[in-house]
Amino acid sequence: MLTRVLVMAGCVAACLCKVYDSASDLPSLSFDFVIVGGGTAGNVVANRLTENPDFSVLVLEAGVSNEGVLDSMIPFWKFGGNLLGPTIYDWNYTTTPQAGLNDRVLDYSRAHMLGGCSSHNGMFYTRGTQDDFDRYAKLTGDPGWSWDAILPYFMKNEKWVPPADHHDTRGQFDPSVHGTAGFIQTSISGFQYPIFQSKVLQTTKELPDVFPFNLDMNSGKPLGLGWLQYTIGHGRRSSSATSYLAPEFIRRENLHVLLHAQVAKLVDPRNATGTLSFGGVQFLQGTSQFTATASKEIVLSAGTVGTPNILMHSGVGDQGILNALGIPTLLHLPSVGQNVSDQPAFAASWAVNFNQTMELVTQNTTRFNEAFAEWNRSHTGPLVDFSPTYVAWLRLDADSPIFENHTDPSAGLDTPHIELAITPGVAGFGVSEPGHFVGAGMALVTPISRGSVTINSSDPLAPPLIDIGMLTSDFDLFALREALKRAQQFFEAPVWRDSIIGPVQDFENITSDALDEIIRNTAGPSLHLVGSAGMSARDAPYGVVDPDLRVKGVEGLRIVDASVLPLVPSAHTQAATYVVAERGADLIKQRWE
Ligand SMILES: Cc1cc2nc3c(=O)[nH]c(=O)nc-3n(C[C@H](O)[C@H](O)[C@H](O)COP(=O)(O)OP(=O)(O)OC[C@H]3O[C@@H](n4cnc5c(N)ncnc54)[C@H](O)[C@@H]3O)c2cc1C
Ligand SMILES: *[C@@H]1O[C@H](CO)[C@@H](O)[C@H](O)[C@H]1NC(C)=O
Ligand SMILES: *[C@@H]1O[C@H](CO)[C@@H](O)[C@H](O)[C@H]1NC(C)=O
Ligand SMILES: *[C@@H]1O[C@H](CO)[C@@H](O)[C@H](O)[C@H]1NC(C)=O
Ligand SMILES: *[C@@H]1O[C@H](CO)[C@@H](O)[C@H](O)[C@H]1NC(C)=O
Ligand SMILES: *[C@@H]1O[C@H](CO)[C@@H](O)[C@H](O)[C@H]1NC(C)=O
Ligand SMILES: *[C@@H]1O[C@H](CO)[C@@H](O)[C@H](O)[C@H]1NC(C)=O
Ligand SMILES: *[C@@H]1O[C@H](CO)[C@@H](O)[C@H](O)[C@H]1NC(C)=O
Ligand SMILES: *[C@@H]1O[C@H](CO)[C@@H](O)[C@H](O)[C@H]1NC(C)=O
Ligand SMILES: *[C@@H]1O[C@H](CO)[C@@H](O)[C@H](O)[C@H]1NC(C)=O
Repeated sequence: MLTRVLVMAGCVAACLCKVYDSASDLPSLSFDFVIVGGGTAGNVVANRLTENPDFSVLVLEAGVSNEGVLDSMIPFWKFGGNLLGPTIYDWNYTTTPQAGLNDRVLDYSRAHMLGGCSSHNGMFYTRGTQDDFDRYAKLTGDPGWSWDAILPYFMKNEKWVPPADHHDTRGQFDPSVHGTAGFIQTSISGFQYPIFQSKVLQTTKELPDVFPFNLDMNSGKPLGLGWLQYTIGHGRRSSSATSYLAPEFIRRENLHVLLHAQVAKLVDPRNATGTLSFGGVQFLQGTSQFTATASKEIVLSAGTVGTPNILMHSGVGDQGILNALGIPTLLHLPSVGQNVSDQPAFAASWAVNFNQTMELVTQNTTRFNEAFAEWNRSHTGPLVDFSPTYVAWLRLDADSPIFENHTDPSAGLDTPHIELAITPGVAGFGVSEPGHFVGAGMALVTPISRGSVTINSSDPLAPPLIDIGMLTSDFDLFALREALKRAQQFFEAPVWRDSIIGPVQDFENITSDALDEIIRNTAGPSLHLVGSAGMSARDAPYGVVDPDLRVKGVEGLRIVDASVLPLVPSAHTQAATYVVAERGADLIKQRWE
């Protein structure tokens, strides 16, 4: 009886909220805009377009709801980690064998839930550099993508909030570069590890030439070491689903979100005006097939893997690839799915003789349960952060021998090549030796290696081929070796001398070849894939979308997600994705208002 009442109450709430589980509950299949993918970017576009009551919007999301999913709410890494595939929250993708990683096949997680990867990612909030955005402006010939023009969109997206423990954050960030009235809540670590923290900050004083303190890494000039900021508010994950689709927005009469709806392809191609356009979006729910139509625009926000997959199944892509699979080519656009990049990552840890580390909770079930109970009670305690971290953003030495063979891939002199995330606990998942540790998660944020996302079947439901091309450039391998040297240098600073017991893995007494082999056998992706539908200048001989995010050669079709970034920002990618979405929504509104 009680269950029955609850189920009915749930249904009423769901119906009022207009997040539908079944296509038969939709009021119609005709809208002004159809957005494919209710992910990080898609939900931003959905919110912004429906600010105009005259626009009707349908969001088609293949995955499940984020509502009530505890693993998506609790920031501590162990929880989000539970969502990674194979689970109902994940697409369960794997890469093709990676030549640069000794032919290993890697899991390549993409969230299969409302909010997309913002519902399960690591929540690092890092925008990239002024140079990165100024380079996007130069590549696209559109000053609208420059740092100065994009900064207002960062502000519009962001709602800075106090940390979960309400500690004094003066001297830990620069309020002048943050937004306080936006959607995505951001904050600094809300649980303290005082011994670790004082040693990290002391290191910036002992080694100021390599690790200068930087008050705010989101100012556009991140070089140095500073306090990491997270997309976490009041001890909980802030995602595009929890913010841009909060109940007050979902209630809008003109916004409709359908779950469990996997888009197969764009259908009903037209060429009346001499330019290709599509009349509808074909999607599947269970075994039923539907077509939704958009009178104004179709917006692809299916992410760096999903978006090129849908384009190719719709006949938009490289003619050679499509021909081989018997898919009729409607538009030969050879850059679809090409030129993708991700940032290779690697980790190292050191045993320490102090016990204020994350192992206090990760290695003791009683304390873990206590921490969970505390989080459940008050959203405070050791689970309020993904993993409390400082980040150092570093450049390779200007006279490094690698620059004899490679042009510097960074966007400018204020842009890092290397990221070191310094944590009070073991770095890298899956290590569970007893003891207490400090760690360095290392990444090359300016990779030269490129890969592709392509298809291997004419069946839209078949998984795409994801080749991230990891470590296929010797520059990338060199940079990871350098990253390890900087991490070693960090923990060799005098302040650590009395507390470091020793490295978990001996990287010192091995040859350079042996180190390369370890890297190829253990490095993995940051899961920051971009570039599969890259922006380029209007007259460029390559690229998928123009600077207004319109698919080149197609009318009424835009792409708004991480796939349009032609090069990976020297940062984690969600902040850049959010500003692409905020500006993308503005561009669409400007066209139709
Ligand atoms: C495990 C993990 C950790 C990460 N950690 C961080 C981090 O700490 N900080 C950071 O800045 N970035 C991080 N990233 C990267 C960042 O989250 C992504 O770059 C960003 O969220 C991408 O946003 P998007 O809108 O392009 O795609 P997504 O957020 O993936 O959204 C795409 C949506 O489209 C849906 N979709 C796809 N295909 C279809 C279809 N055919 N029909 C219907 N719906 C479809 C998907 O289910 C998904 O909801 C992480 C990524 C992962 C996977
Ligand atoms: C991923 O794997 C899980 C577990 O096998 C399964 O339930 C889920 O449906 C899979 N996801 C997709 C998108 O197929
Ligand atoms: C559209 O039609 C024009 C002529 O009417 C033709 O030149 C062009 O190739 C067609 N384009 C597509 C994508 O079918
Ligand atoms: C990949 O990007 C480069 C520019 O960085 C461009 O010259 C090249 O044509 C692109 N390749 C494809 C297949 O789009
Ligand atoms: C941590 O170390 C301190 C000092 O050595 C000791 O007093 C304390 O009991 C330890 N705490 C835990 C939880 O192990
Ligand atoms: C685990 O934590 C509890 C509570 O603090 C403590 O009593 C117990 O001794 C710890 N167990 C171990 C093995 O350290
Ligand atoms: C979490 O809190 C709720 C009440 O808010 C309580 O019912 C539930 O038992 C708690 N769960 C745990 C595991 O403590
Ligand atoms: C540069 O290339 C040359 C020739 O391939 C090679 O011998 C040398 O080791 C390379 N330098 C670096 C730093 O990789
Ligand atoms: C690609 O398709 C072929 C033919 O169907 C199949 O044999 C092969 O296993 C597929 N490759 C992958 C990586 O899925
Ligand atoms: C490297 O070798 C030296 C000499 O044998 C030894 O003292 C040192 O501890 C070794 N380093 C590591 C990290 O094991």
